[in-house]
Amino acid sequence: MSPRRFRHLFRPELAGMEPYAAEVQTGRIRLDANESPFSLAPEVRREIMKALSRVPVNRYPDPEARELKAAVASWLNVEPDWILLGNGSDEIISLLAAAVAVPGARALVPTPSFSMYALIAQGHGLAVDAVPLDERFDLRMEEMRAALSRRPRIVLLGYPNNPTGVCYSRTRINEVVDLAPGLVVIDEAYGDYSGKSFLSNGDRHRNVVVLRTVSKIGLAALRLGVMAAHPEIVREIEKIRLPYNINALTQTAARIALSHPRALSAQVKKVIRERDRLMEALEWTRGLSPYPTEANFILFRTVGDADAIHSGLLSRGVVIRNLSRTPALKNCLRVTVGTPAENKAFLEALQLALKEIQ
Ligand SMILES: Cc1ncc(COP(=O)(O)O)c(C=O)c1O
Repeated sequence: MSPRRFRHLFRPELAGMEPYAAEVQTGRIRLDANESPFSLAPEVRREIMKALSRVPVNRYPDPEARELKAAVASWLNVEPDWILLGNGSDEIISLLAAAVAVPGARALVPTPSFSMYALIAQGHGLAVDAVPLDERFDLRMEEMRAALSRRPRIVLLGYPNNPTGVCYSRTRINEVVDLAPGLVVIDEAYGDYSGKSFLSNGDRHRNVVVLRTVSKIGLAALRLGVMAAHPEIVREIEKIRLPYNINALTQTAARIALSHPRALSAQVKKVIRERDRLMEALEWTRGLSPYPTEANFILFRTVGDADAIHSGLLSRGVVIRNLSRTPALKNCLRVTVGTPAENKAFLEALQLALKEIQ
């Protein structure tokens, strides 16, 4: 049955969109999705498994996820009424876009950035203004000011940005916040790796919404994203949040995991150490130019054909992200920092793939 048959039933902007293509690769070594390579510490896993066995799965979960919210509040050092929880930060971005989507509303998205920003905004009928980043992947302020004068209802900034790994300059972000007539979303999905945050700026800038997630620190399967914003903003978004968006198993598991912050931060530190070693190895590899990063991944440009290098890695069981077709990222690949053994295997496979294309 042709899908076009039903097109007239749906909003016209959906006709020009494609579903998000999350790559489902079954490589031996997965370094493509910016997950943490480390799962739960054994003692935390045991505690979670015990608690999960007692979860009453015949009952709906707490619609407010109160215990989890308290754990998140103390993890981020934020008052609980500043917090809204989502089924991943993707869901929160979707709620924010839905909440501001009056007819004719615009979203401002620097490019390149996380592809879901534009996709979600379009999905809610917002017109997307994509403003190219400068050569250091920072915000181009002249173009940003011009785009802000078109009065976007929402601005989406990755801090650090994905796929570039760069944190935009704070002064430039502050200027965007001051000029923006709508919400400014500062997405700190990789904030644990940068150690930088806008969380404490909340009082000053009421239009700032900070996003965090547990996906990048070893808990991606749980699907838990966090929004921290002024309680007035939280209250508005709560009106369209579905009541049971955080399931009971996630509420239990995430609450326990977050009550062990030292175990989580020890893993983050391990990843940062590995990131520095991986960066050094890439810098020493001829034909590659890695970009500076504050996240758990490294973007690098290749002199040779990035498609061929990507395939050469795949054929050796190593999956990384090919960004060659993204505007401004021709011949760019992105590798997520893995375990020491995974990074070693990646670097060995990379040497062989590079030799092959010489
Ligand atoms: C910048 C950025 N924000 C948000 C997300 C999605 O996070 P979550 O798993 O919490 O939906 C990602 C995932 O890659 C990301 O790179």
